[in-house]
Amino acid sequence: MSLSVADLSYTYNMGLPTEAAALKNISFEAEKGEIFSIVGHTGSGKSTLAMHLNGLMVLQSGEVIVDGIRVGGNPSDLRRIRQAVGLVFQYPEQQIFAETVREEISFGPSNWGLSGDALEERVCAAMDLIGLDRSFAQANPFMLSGGEKRRVAIASVLASDPDYLVLDEPSAGLDYNGLCELTSLLRKMSEKGKCVIHITHDLELALEISDRIMIISDGAVAAIGSPSEISGILSDIDIKGLILPDILSLSYELKKRGRIDKITSDPSELAEEIRTASSCR
Ligand SMILES: Nc1ncnc2c1ncn2[C@@H]1O[C@H](COP(=O)(O)OP(=O)(O)OP(=O)(O)O)[C@@H](O)[C@H]1O
Ligand SMILES: [Mg+2]
Repeated sequence: MSLSVADLSYTYNMGLPTEAAALKNISFEAEKGEIFSIVGHTGSGKSTLAMHLNGLMVLQSGEVIVDGIRVGGNPSDLRRIRQAVGLVFQYPEQQIFAETVREEISFGPSNWGLSGDALEERVCAAMDLIGLDRSFAQANPFMLSGGEKRRVAIASVLASDPDYLVLDEPSAGLDYNGLCELTSLLRKMSEKGKCVIHITHDLELALEISDRIMIISDGAVAAIGSPSEISGILSDIDIKGLILPDILSLSYELKKRGRIDKITSDPSELAEEIRTASSCR
């Protein structure tokens, strides 16, 4: 069971002077139990791709298949696809609509048939998972800070318990504690067997938390691989607009000077590489 995308292309305003090719022949497969990060520069097509994954955009060419069900195939399958794939939007304001946090978070699970105590438990569990204090339940979500709104948006998707969790730039607006809580939540979700599709422009974060990474550049796939595979090839591909983590720049420099054999973005692995290489001299 997986979410697979094959040869997906999408052009905004086709045939108009404002035509913009946002996605170009994107293909990948994300599995349950993994954190799959999609990393790309501003305007690389990340949000356009995210919105294709649960059928929010009408397909122009290519395929998106969720657990064997083709998005855009049978209209009666759309509900199952939306239940399976939860999307946290890039901007919480795109998602939030209710007058209270409780109502906002309840919307998804009540739509899928939960009510009464089971619904209340689901809402509380989702708030706890993302570290949103229960005292927020009666608050108006529009009156919250950016980071708090982000947590409400994440909780409202978690509450539906989707098998595929797509998060578009979820770390934006979070402070250090919020970021630690988010990364531990994503790990917990993947350990529970969920597929976490984590969209970001933060290469360092992606290298730290992902099982696999796909880099997109100008709407096309530039590379797909494990963090160590990606670390090894980043200096050879166009990562336009992405910030190379300091540890990787150091790694490349040491390799160039013949001081280490293997490129890594892991600090302890790099220290070990340096130790081994110097003891061999
Ligand atoms: N509604 C739209 N109409 C026309 N062009 C659009 C529209 N939305 C996005 N685009 C264009 O499609 C391309 C991809 O946009 P998209 O929002 O998917 O990128 P992104 O990688 O999510 O960027 P960011 O990191 O800034 O969120 C960009 O060139 C953008 O200008
Ligand atoms: Mg975006």
